[in-house]
Amino acid sequence: MKYRRVLLKLSGESLMGDKQFGIDNQRLSTYAKEIKNIYDQKIEVAIVIGGGNIFRGVQAEEGGMDRTHGDYMGMLATMINSMALQAALESIGLDTRLLSAIEMKEISEPFIRRKAVRHLEKGRVVIFGAGTGNPFFTTDSAASLRAIEINADVILKGTRVDGIYNVDPEKNAEAVKFDQISFDDIYSKGLKVMDMTAFTLCKENSLPIIVFDMDTPGNLSKLIAGEKIGTIVHN
Ligand code: GTP
Repeated sequence: MKYRRVLLKLSGESLMGDKQFGIDNQRLSTYAKEIKNIYDQKIEVAIVIGGGNIFRGVQAEEGGMDRTHGDYMGMLATMINSMALQAALESIGLDTRLLSAIEMKEISEPFIRRKAVRHLEKGRVVIFGAGTGNPFFTTDSAASLRAIEINADVILKGTRVDGIYNVDPEKNAEAVKFDQISFDDIYSKGLKVMDMTAFTLCKENSLPIIVFDMDTPGNLSKLIAGEKIGTIVHN
């Protein structure tokens, strides 16, 4: 196996499936099965999931709400998704632990880095909830930070598109996908993978990111098996 410990970043919006809001149970259970497939291969799996299907910080600002207030609401939204994913994983027999960046000990352990690593070593899927616990950071930043903290080999960023293109593939039929690209090229070409905070964290710590289509069943396992799925970003 190429990767021993991975940080899987899932988007909150993807959890909606075809719905306009909230969580689609079908999609949730598909994700759980995909994760089980790699868990069964003894891959250590940590997960960060967004909250955009429930609440987005920027949306709050548009409505006149303080940005920080909205961001905290967004962090709570990630906890709802994390709990849903935890339940879905446990329902198919996976051992899991949910660790929150904001203390809410009635429903989750607090985030303690060494505990997280220990849980992974013991074969538990670790879900990191509540982002970084700070406003002005995205869940991509949380994913990057946690991945570095736990020494993950790679960030697997599940998206709706199957990789990074030179131009927007939804607007341009001529768009060409990169199999691999460097952090510097992403920057100089003005392409976007993650927000700059997350991107810089990964670059400075030489943590590769693989952007791939999580909504095609089997992709996650193929990726782990070493198949060229999506786009890998590296130094
Ligand atoms: P080990 O240290 O390897 O035994 O890990 P463990 O997680 O099995 O042990 P622990 O006794 O810490 O946890 C037992 C259960 O309680 C697990 O399901 C944890 O997720 C849960 N748990 C631990 N700490 C907290 C907490 O602060 N809040 C909540 N809600 N649950 C917790």
